Amino acid sequence: MLKNKVAVITGGTRGIGYATAKLFLDNGCKVIIFGSRAESVDKALSQLNEENPNYPVEGYYPNLNDYEEVEKTILAIAEKYGKIDILINNAGISSSTPIDQYTVEEFEKIINLNVVSMFKCIRATVPIMKEQGEGVILNTSSMVSISGQPSGVGYPTSKFAVNGMTLSLARELGKDNIRVNAVAPGVTETDMFKSLPEPLIEGIVSKIPLGRVGKPEDIANAFLYLASDMASYVTGEVLSVDGACRS
Ligand SMILES: NC(=O)c1ccc[n+]([C@@H]2O[C@H](COP(=O)([O-])OP(=O)(O)OC[C@H]3O[C@@H](n4cnc5c(N)ncnc54)[C@H](O)[C@@H]3O)[C@@H](O)[C@H]2O)c1
Repeated sequence: MLKNKVAVITGGTRGIGYATAKLFLDNGCKVIIFGSRAESVDKALSQLNEENPNYPVEGYYPNLNDYEEVEKTILAIAEKYGKIDILINNAGISSSTPIDQYTVEEFEKIINLNVVSMFKCIRATVPIMKEQGEGVILNTSSMVSISGQPSGVGYPTSKFAVNGMTLSLARELGKDNIRVNAVAPGVTETDMFKSLPEPLIEGIVSKIPLGRVGKPEDIANAFLYLASDMASYVTGEVLSVDGACRS
């Protein structure tokens, strides 16, 4: 479905990003994963290499909070591959700290990665997509962008902002043939999920109508659809992939 496309996936070293990278590679895409550290990027690349030594994949670890570093990396990728068809802004962090223990630093850290670094990656990539006359930007939102969550205010705040950025840029960039959508995963079995307190996990799972937690592959499938020409008339959408878990 993505033959000869070039995709950059932030947070591609594990969880949802890793599953998406693998699925895109299986669909003929060239994939560049971003991670936070050299070790995690190397680990993901060797895992992918074990899956299939012929996968056209490489990785970088730019500091996503540093615009110059992000721009330099994106420009180098565009130069090397001649284009960037798909940008998936997936890197994200979460926390469930109650408000009276929440520090300003923790709030800023979440907003900086989940929202500001997303803006930085998009800002650096849009000129390339405009020049090539097409592009797809996909953002990882969350089910909490619809309902909020009972503690850890920074995370849902960041994901509401992700939806705002997605809908607004879809309207701004439609004329440039750039589609912008988001996927809003529900509870998904990744390291982030496993780090949540057990009572919180049990409470959430009991409210999932499909009766199970999502797999990273469930989310990757939604990204594949939205990245492909199957979604050629879909933009400005936040696609829930959450087993109808809405609270
Ligand atoms: N797991 C869930 O239940 C769930 C639900 C809804 C939304 N999400 C969203 O899915 C996305 C992926 O999360 P996941 O569940 O796969 O989590 P994960 O913790 O397994 O992966 C997070 C990814 O983000 C990257 N990352 C973290 N901090 C970074 C930093 N400072 N700089 C650069 N990269 C950094 C990591 O390298 C990793 O690849 C996130 O945006 C998250 O908010 C997850």
